[in-house]
Amino acid sequence: MTILGIETSCDDTCCAILKKGREFEVLANIISSQVMVHRPWQGVYPALAKREHEKNLVPVLKRALKEAGFLTEGKVNFSRKEIDEILSRNPELCKKTNNFLKRYKGPKIDALTVTEGPGLEPCLWTGMNFVKALSSAWKIPIIPTNHLKAHLFVNFLNNKISFPSLGLIVSGGHTQLILMKDKKDFRLLGETRDDAAGECFDKTARLLKLNYPGGPEIEKRAKLTKKTSLSLPRPMIYSQDYDFSFSGLKTAVLYEVKKRRLNKSFVNEMAKETQQAIIDVLIKKTIKAARDFKVKSIVLGGGVIANKEIQRQFKKRVPFPLVFPPSQLCADNALMTCLAAYYSNKRENWKKIKVNANLNI
Ligand code: KG4
Ligand code: ZN
Repeated sequence: MTILGIETSCDDTCCAILKKGREFEVLANIISSQVMVHRPWQGVYPALAKREHEKNLVPVLKRALKEAGFLTEGKVNFSRKEIDEILSRNPELCKKTNNFLKRYKGPKIDALTVTEGPGLEPCLWTGMNFVKALSSAWKIPIIPTNHLKAHLFVNFLNNKISFPSLGLIVSGGHTQLILMKDKKDFRLLGETRDDAAGECFDKTARLLKLNYPGGPEIEKRAKLTKKTSLSLPRPMIYSQDYDFSFSGLKTAVLYEVKKRRLNKSFVNEMAKETQQAIIDVLIKKTIKAARDFKVKSIVLGGGVIANKEIQRQFKKRVPFPLVFPPSQLCADNALMTCLAAYYSNKRENWKKIKVNANLNI
């Protein structure tokens, strides 16, 4: 079975091709990052992200097909009228897609997949409409996928996971603990009540006048100092549930920043303390959930999990078998979308699907 996936839920335009024989084989995994486009705004600007996806989707698809050895010139019998209708709200993408479809044959794949949600609605629709157009032209079904599940399924690429397993997703939009009884049975145990951990990294970085995205910058600065004389709260660390709260942390940073001059040593110490406060809460709640539900493994995912200090402290302090994605697969990519699609395998007709920006687990 070969699946071609598209992911555009936020600010990365991604296309991957995954083949499953006896083992998984990654035929392509292309990520076109928009970081430099959004940097001047210190965050993702949805209208700009949508425009970038419209610009990048066809080139990214072509690169993936080429890498997989699937880019062959030839004729496809498709309805131009149908493509124009599907992409009527994306004129630039519509033109590019028609030109592409006129020039290249359909690849030998069994299914297409695309992120159904959660994510930024205009971005989700751009990817969804593009995949609908491919599905209409190539006559291949679509498996819509949940982006949150995909952040966990990426770990199934190289690992055999023992169930029940606990999933921890830590990204720019989510901080969630999920109980996975098996590959199909997911239950949300708890999540952030306000900001996600990634958002806290990004907002703190902005207060410290560091670049966007803030997570990698905070990690870098934290490494530059051995100790910190600052002390931030650990929000909800002792609450008897599996929820999180990170907005108070950012406010506490704001108060400190107002009192001080932003010199190098203060910024480094604040970076270290913010990172440590987030790590302490994540670890405490993860251990509590893992013990309460007697899980056999913990599976992690999301952009924040790329942080090496987070990984190091989890390995040291959490007494359960841990599974981390390779660093380049922590953040958004379409390979994880293909993996989620492989495990759900719920094929749909393109006419029946739509996005759900608030989709939960
Ligand atoms: O999973 P992701 O790429 O996108 C979402 O689905 O949200 O996560 C992006 C988030 C950003 O908030 C970014 O600052 C954070 O992941 N991030 C990190 C690191 N690398 C990315 N946070 C902490 N340390 C890192 N090394
Ligand atoms: Zn994500």
